[in-house]
Amino acid sequence: MSFNEGLDELITCRLDHVRRAVEPCTIVIFGASGDLTARKLIPALYHLFKDKQMPPDFRIVGFARREKTDASWRGELHEALTQFSRSKPVDETVWSAFAAKVHYCVGDISDAAAYQKLAGLIGSFSSAPLRQNLLFYLATMPSQFGMAAEYLHSVKLLHRGGEQGWQRLVIEKPFGHDLASASALNHELTRFAHEQQVFRIDHYLGKETVQNILTFRFSNSIFERLWNRDAVDHIQITVSEKLGVGGRGGYYEEAGALRDMVQNHILQVLALVTMEPPVSLDAEPIRDEKVKVLSAICRFQPDEVARRVVRGQYTAGSVGGESRGAYREEVKVDPRSNVETFVALKLFVDNWRWAGVPIYLRTGKALPISASEVRVQFKPTPNVLFAAQCGTRLDANALTLRLQPNEGISLRFNGKVPGVGYGLRPVRMHFGYDAEFGAYTSEAYERLLLDAMGGDATLFIRRDEVEQAWQIVDSIRAGWDGVGLDDREFYAAGSWGPRLAHELLAQSGHAWREPQLIK
Ligand SMILES: NC(=O)c1ccc[n+]([C@@H]2O[C@H](COP(=O)([O-])OP(=O)(O)OC[C@H]3O[C@@H](n4cnc5c(N)ncnc54)[C@H](OP(=O)(O)O)[C@@H]3O)[C@@H](O)[C@H]2O)c1
Repeated sequence: MSFNEGLDELITCRLDHVRRAVEPCTIVIFGASGDLTARKLIPALYHLFKDKQMPPDFRIVGFARREKTDASWRGELHEALTQFSRSKPVDETVWSAFAAKVHYCVGDISDAAAYQKLAGLIGSFSSAPLRQNLLFYLATMPSQFGMAAEYLHSVKLLHRGGEQGWQRLVIEKPFGHDLASASALNHELTRFAHEQQVFRIDHYLGKETVQNILTFRFSNSIFERLWNRDAVDHIQITVSEKLGVGGRGGYYEEAGALRDMVQNHILQVLALVTMEPPVSLDAEPIRDEKVKVLSAICRFQPDEVARRVVRGQYTAGSVGGESRGAYREEVKVDPRSNVETFVALKLFVDNWRWAGVPIYLRTGKALPISASEVRVQFKPTPNVLFAAQCGTRLDANALTLRLQPNEGISLRFNGKVPGVGYGLRPVRMHFGYDAEFGAYTSEAYERLLLDAMGGDATLFIRRDEVEQAWQIVDSIRAGWDGVGLDDREFYAAGSWGPRLAHELLAQSGHAWREPQLIK
């Protein structure tokens, strides 16, 4: 057996240990005629089926107001699949077998009678597991989640306690727009389902590279020993997007970069990077550790917000050679909007491991490239030996976890430039997912849907995680309350945000590292 084959076997053993069997079930998608269903959910379910990952038997029931029949919905889904599938062309034999399990139920979420009809359809399925193991995917507006749960409970499709089969609710962000609304939503849902039955999706957690953060940290002793305030100088997390808000202006006006990206994706990544080792890889120990570290993040006092948080909004500019209008000119955006399309902030995790280590987060739209990465910057050496060659510029080691694109991990260190002199230059060791494992194309939603069917909540967000994250975000928003953007907070599309974002780091002698599109 070669070294690599040995590695493969080890990895597979690990996954088999963690994965649970998926029982036959019915997946009910509320919002069946929507964008998420067509672009993500159906392609993910089709690929799971094609890859023989679906349970031995299953049904998919779409629920929405628009009049459709089983046949017409299947036709629409086939069209969507042709457009959005990750493997083209669609395999028609697989599709026919898949489509035979797909049904459509016309109904309004606010209409009690529609749930009777839904219950009738599910009740007509041939086996008990198909009638009792029910995954309700709420791909609709959050204001409808509570109502759907209540009606499902009233027609006995959702049992709080699982006396017959299992029932789960999968919900999409936004999970509220502040702590109060998130708590109210959580309260509403848990009137009719236990917290363990609620699966809050953050598709970021379905990404291989995000999951790999824990594997990397806790299966490699050389890095974990340095993962603390003694060795780490600071941490940077960047999630940049080239796109502007496009057609989502209406949504974005209510959200902004802080709520849209920081509250969920970025704080989740930060939690995985900074949390303590869990006692096991099960869902609750991992989520317990995430909550602990989120609760250790210092909340912002109103007067700290101006010093430690920079917001920005894009003006007209050019991204990748294409001209881009200002945010205020986007469709459904107020021409005097003060909504932030960029945010950069400095925070501290006030615990034993991280006290005093600055952690910088930044995200924005209309930035030069789309990339997500975590950079752990280690402390420099005393620099007594190479001062003559490098002055104070001797680069410190840095480890970059590239989450997308070109997923991989890079370690930066100094090397001697060949030759008779003693020149130094930073060089890098790089691990690329593609090069090592071949192109891995599975979508985040495939993994997340499979886990939801299997009852594995590890990659889903627990109520207290959501609430901790809102406390942090609310403490920042309180500092912005009623304060409009000033001239220094605007940035040209295609730049890396307002100058203030660079000054934020410069105050502590740090600088943002621009993500490199390395292969
Ligand atoms: N699209 C994405 O990539 C994405 C990403 C992350 C999160 N999300 C979240 O996922 C949810 C769905 O997003 P989406 O983009 O798919 O929205 P969408 O395209 O506007 O679809 C909304 C769906 O909800 C249905 N619906 C609305 N009111 C209804 C009612 N009273 N009764 C029954 N069905 C109703 C609509 O169907 P009818 O009009 O036929 O009733 C439609 O199928 C939202 O909460 C969104 O924030 C979406």
